[in-house]
Amino acid sequence: AKKAVLGPLVGAVDQGTSSTRFLVFNSKTAELLSHHQVEIKQEFPREGWVEQDPKEILHSVYECIEKTCEKLGQLNIDISNIKAIGVSNQRETTVVWDKLTGEPLYNAVVWLDLRTQSTVESLSKRIPGNNNFVKSKTGLPLSTYFSAVKLRWLLDNVRKVQKAVEEDRALFGTVDSWLIWSLTGGASGGVHCTDVTNASRTMLFNIHSLEWDKELCEFFEIPMKILPNVRSSSEIYGLMKAGALEGVPISGCLGDQSAALVGQMCFQDGQAKNTYGTGCFLLCNTGHKCVFSEHGLLTTVAYKLGRDKPVYYALEGSVAIAGAVIRWLRDNLGIIKTSEEIEKLAKEVGTSYGCYFVPAFSGLYAPYWEPSARGIICGLTQFTNKCHIAFAALEAVCFQTREILDAMNRDCGIPLSHLQVDGGMTNNKILMQLQADILYIPVVKPSMPETTALGAAMAAGAAEGVGVWSLEPEDLSAVTMERFEPQINAEESEIRYSTWKKAVMKSMGWVT
Ligand code: G3P
Repeated sequence: AKKAVLGPLVGAVDQGTSSTRFLVFNSKTAELLSHHQVEIKQEFPREGWVEQDPKEILHSVYECIEKTCEKLGQLNIDISNIKAIGVSNQRETTVVWDKLTGEPLYNAVVWLDLRTQSTVESLSKRIPGNNNFVKSKTGLPLSTYFSAVKLRWLLDNVRKVQKAVEEDRALFGTVDSWLIWSLTGGASGGVHCTDVTNASRTMLFNIHSLEWDKELCEFFEIPMKILPNVRSSSEIYGLMKAGALEGVPISGCLGDQSAALVGQMCFQDGQAKNTYGTGCFLLCNTGHKCVFSEHGLLTTVAYKLGRDKPVYYALEGSVAIAGAVIRWLRDNLGIIKTSEEIEKLAKEVGTSYGCYFVPAFSGLYAPYWEPSARGIICGLTQFTNKCHIAFAALEAVCFQTREILDAMNRDCGIPLSHLQVDGGMTNNKILMQLQADILYIPVVKPSMPETTALGAAMAAGAAEGVGVWSLEPEDLSAVTMERFEPQINAEESEIRYSTWKKAVMKSMGWVT
């Protein structure tokens, strides 16, 4: 049968911490036509360490592309209509590989990994309190979260990495660089690049000059020759060299949180979105200004949609553990078999019955930046059961969002009137209602929660030389919104929030 011809289509790789997806959108309507998702393993070789296999990540991307193309075929959609591919990715996760063999030289050190805590402590001592040049150049606090210290660890501890650097064979990249290099040919001509949003999470990138910073590289003792070229978030980087989409340009690249900001169309100063993935990240567009937070938020590059286009910045509230707490209840406690079951358990009780769960598995990120914190479940009685713990886990995600929203409101001066949300967890209606109750403002969610992939597809489709996606689309009929209004009274919301804060205080100082 002759395959149906649609307008130009754009694909997007969304390589997150928990899973990889490939999604294909209609560039005229932003309608999601087909997708495929594969879960990614996480390894915990020691307490606080989190690693992933870069090869598994790469294979999952190929698998998702192949399966999505098969599904499109079943829908009679011709894959030759796919005109571009965008990449969005978990940020900060650090990979070093051999450019001659294409082999990774160690596992990817994941953003959540805490092994560099002592490195961070000793580096902090070298920064004078009133002249924090790392913060002023990068917008980031010195923390285990960012790539520079992970790369430092690899250079100090992995002989294969040291040797490859000496022999000029080593390349460093965050997951976007690893994927784009591999997908565009790897050892036979792969393009070694990253975009400004991903570069801004390494702690080596000057967010004002938009270049790798010599002083920072010296401070962290990172050889600049292993760093990728920094490009805009929307331009042709190279062509797919293998698989069903061979020859299609890769022309969009954004860290996943920036991609979600674009996918939610937060293009104006003051527009914000919160994405619920493995972690939870609230980003507010601050336009062309770098706004520095007084309340524990990061300053980061939001996007630069074209070589000659201006750069936009964002304030970011980062929460390390959101969806990851559900995976922990599934994999470590076994109280649910699938992540979706959490909603059923929570619904059975409709309350945590005074139980609070602070999932500080990787310390606490914004607004505390407290590496000494560890997870606690408190307020238990003999009445407490797994349903209450499930409910408390969902509430924890909402309370953590409230903390970063409060910080954002204080920094911006004008409180957000509603919260735009997205990400896989937003399919959970109990979570969404709880979020509206705890924030005490409406929560608004698009019917298609895969906004991260949508943002990467938009960047790819809008790139010069592709030009199939207008960033001011005529027809957004495929995007509808669902709204959750607060349903409890303000006083109750405040009481619950202040008890949460008590629990947070108890989670701190566990590791000395
Ligand atoms: O900074 C880490 C972030 O990019 C991870 O995103 O979607 O895997 O939670 P996600």
